Amino acid sequence: MSDSLANGKGDSTPAQAKLYERWAKGGVGLSIVGEVQGDARYPEKPGNLVFHESSHLKALQTLVKKATVNGAHLWAQLGHAGALSHPPISQPVGPSALDVAGIQCRALLVNEVQQLPAMFAKTALFAKNVGFGGVQIHAAHGFLLSQFLSPLFNSRQDSYGGSIEARASIIVETIKKVRKAVGPRFPIGIKINSSDMIEGGLTPKDALEFVRILDGTSIDLIEISGGTYFPGTKSSSEGAAKGPYFLDFAEQARGATKIPLMLTGGFKSHQQAVDALASGHVDLVGLARALVVEPNVANLWLAKEVSDPSFPSFESTPEGGVTAWYTMRLSALSQGHEDDFSLSPADALAIYEQRDKLRSVQWLKRFNK
Ligand SMILES: Cc1cc2nc3c(=O)[nH]c(=O)nc-3n(C[C@H](O)[C@H](O)[C@H](O)COP(=O)(O)O)c2cc1C
Repeated sequence: MSDSLANGKGDSTPAQAKLYERWAKGGVGLSIVGEVQGDARYPEKPGNLVFHESSHLKALQTLVKKATVNGAHLWAQLGHAGALSHPPISQPVGPSALDVAGIQCRALLVNEVQQLPAMFAKTALFAKNVGFGGVQIHAAHGFLLSQFLSPLFNSRQDSYGGSIEARASIIVETIKKVRKAVGPRFPIGIKINSSDMIEGGLTPKDALEFVRILDGTSIDLIEISGGTYFPGTKSSSEGAAKGPYFLDFAEQARGATKIPLMLTGGFKSHQQAVDALASGHVDLVGLARALVVEPNVANLWLAKEVSDPSFPSFESTPEGGVTAWYTMRLSALSQGHEDDFSLSPADALAIYEQRDKLRSVQWLKRFNK
């Protein structure tokens, strides 16, 4: 998850370290810090971490140390929000120009696309050097690399657009470059969409073809997700349907690759997790919201505790309100204040947006010199 716990200047904080320490003590095998940026021009939010020459190394080392107590691993998810970059601190770019309600971006020039693999590789090497145990390339949810895969965002006429092989080519180049930077033994994962779940977006058929393409790369772990943050659509983090969401796709993916598969989305109970693993279609279960409502969920499930976390149910919420609620609860967890957390999604959204406004000022001061 994008935890929005960096300090608005791309650096880690004691609160962030505390959150991951709680999860490590709570029994997770692997935590992945969402949306870590290597290019401060295209963040998802101003609470993202940024890895760059003047990053606060000590703070990151503290994060790594605390997040890996109890044998847990910590990876960084390598982000680039592309067309969905946070507008107050970004001039968004995508595979193709877009001008629709909620998204305006210009198209990346060919030479800018060609520079992307090196940027991801540099960020991955930074993560390795600072002590992270692996990286995950973010190619899901409608952010930049997912935009390349999606005909909705990608109408390029050059070698980066057209067939699924062409749309995937920048990702394959990125994997090669990242691998070269971090060496053969450092884990590289990727998060992908099984479908964009929006008309004109990436279809399950093309997503499966993409899995076959990934099978020919050195990727170590494929995390299966779906949905986008395209305005007006439902994202996976706001999904209310009974989970797990993408098990059928995982079954097909299992037939297309021997790379380990992680399934994320909609897991709410111990039984769902056990059944998904027992199906043999997936090797790992990924959790987001369950870890926000109950940071000890992994230990509870491993101990076969029947008490599953109780999830909030919201009646009517503003767009983005559910994700904002979970994000603000992450802040409460990072302070140990979750017992006092009683915000509605609308109030959480207002506080979250206000905090981002303040952080945006700091971000611009730090990065737009
Ligand atoms: C607060 C919050 C932040 C998230 N940030 C990210 C992110 O940075 N990267 C990502 O790949 N997914 C992100 N997600 C999506 C989750 O990783 C997950 O795919 C989705 O919430 C569905 O899983 P769940 O049902 O276990 O919550 C986020 C979800 C939440 C609730």
